[in-house]
Amino acid sequence: MFERRRCLTAFIIILIGVLIISVCTGVYLNTMSDHNSPELPFLSDSDAINYVESSKLMVLISNKEENIFRKIQDTYGLNATCVSDEDVSKRIADVQAACTRDQHVVAISVGNFESSDPPDMQPYTQIARDQNYIVSVVNGPENLLPDYIGWHLNEADSCMLGLCAHALLEDLLKTVPEFCSDFRNYSQGETIPEMLKFYQLADSNHNGMLHCTAKYFGSSPDESSKEYFREVKGNITMNFETTVIGIVFTPRTFGARLKLSQEQLKLWGGDDDGKAKMKTVLKNEIARSNEDDRVSSLNSAMAHHSIQCDSNNLATTDSKLPMKKKSARYFPNSQASLVYLTTKSEEDPDFHPVSGRGSRAHMTLGIAPGESAVTTGYDLLEVVKLEEEEKDWPTYPTTRGWLRDYGENRWVLYMKNKITVETLFAGVYSVS
Ligand SMILES: *[C@@H]1O[C@H](CO)[C@@H](O)[C@H](O)[C@H]1NC(C)=O
Ligand SMILES: *[C@@H]1O[C@H](CO)[C@@H](O)[C@H](O)[C@H]1NC(C)=O
Ligand SMILES: *[C@@H]1O[C@H](CO)[C@@H](O)[C@H](O)[C@H]1NC(C)=O
Repeated sequence: MFERRRCLTAFIIILIGVLIISVCTGVYLNTMSDHNSPELPFLSDSDAINYVESSKLMVLISNKEENIFRKIQDTYGLNATCVSDEDVSKRIADVQAACTRDQHVVAISVGNFESSDPPDMQPYTQIARDQNYIVSVVNGPENLLPDYIGWHLNEADSCMLGLCAHALLEDLLKTVPEFCSDFRNYSQGETIPEMLKFYQLADSNHNGMLHCTAKYFGSSPDESSKEYFREVKGNITMNFETTVIGIVFTPRTFGARLKLSQEQLKLWGGDDDGKAKMKTVLKNEIARSNEDDRVSSLNSAMAHHSIQCDSNNLATTDSKLPMKKKSARYFPNSQASLVYLTTKSEEDPDFHPVSGRGSRAHMTLGIAPGESAVTTGYDLLEVVKLEEEEKDWPTYPTTRGWLRDYGENRWVLYMKNKITVETLFAGVYSVS
């Protein structure tokens, strides 16, 4: 009797043991398969897929994840090129060729990130930068963080928004004499075409590609940055509609001001409290910043944009520009999603369009010579602070909105009609 009970107890213990082992194995296998097939928006979300099919995305994949190649091919068919040549220089040549063809998706098996000799991403990120590709790293190691992460416009939309913003600037220069005279003074431009050339592209806006930074990591991210990245990682390659509500003009920067959606605010990791930052600290930050303070030459795409805004000047100035870049009207595999309604809006002006979290959200459109793209955010924060002071700032109604003079050469356009544009959430990896 006693024997039988012991037997039964032993049996039950073994049974429980087996159960625990099998449950654990199940969980383990589950996490393994999760790891092997992460939910990647550009492979699982139909909106994201549609957007990628009107944009250009480069995907860097670890060797271990080659099953993703099959999924990419299943999803994008002839719109995707998968490159996995063993020979690195052959691989780079294949990537170059696929990007030159403006292939929508260029997926590359780059090597094993966790090996003793991790892959050099630089040749690929350099091609992506030159060819206006948005980059995503699939299943990179924990410690591989981008320089910064945010919402990126494709090349057609970047061009369109650049054109819109320059057209608005031109319109304001022509219709608001007070603005024109202040702008003339600080831009040192005599004519409107000269003034339109004052702002240049920041290095981070190479070829006129525009983005809104959600969080900047730099080269030595702290623990909280790593934690943030773990949380938002699953959103990479997801598309987000982004809304431009205004434009800020200062002697330093030219920025589009955004109102983030609820979904975007969840991903927002920017520092909205610029008050602690003194201008001197800022200067040091600029010196250290990877968001480079060098500017592209006047032959930049944006200079091209502003010249296009002024059609009278197109023929003469265009021929002087040795344009390597494709013309603005020619983006073979990139479609614009930008919407800027021009119907009359009867809305009253809102001079406090954003406050608190996300109030720093912006896209740098241009910078003055010698300035840095990071300054755009600080210029915007200054404006947000001034908006809180209920003063009678000189305000000029115009066809497209209300232009307000905040003194010290700071001007803000509050747009009547907002611009909406699709963007892709992705990181930017150092090219140097
Ligand atoms: C390729 O992209 C185009 C849009 O540029 C889309 O219409 C077409 O369905 C895509 N082809 C495949 C196989 O997904
Ligand atoms: C023009 O700028 C200079 C400084 O660069 C300033 O001293 C002067 O007051 C400005 N003039 C006008 C009309 O704003
Ligand atoms: C996207 O980011 C948000 C905010 O961090 C997070 O809650 C959500 O789980 C992420 N989505 C995915 C699919 O990972």
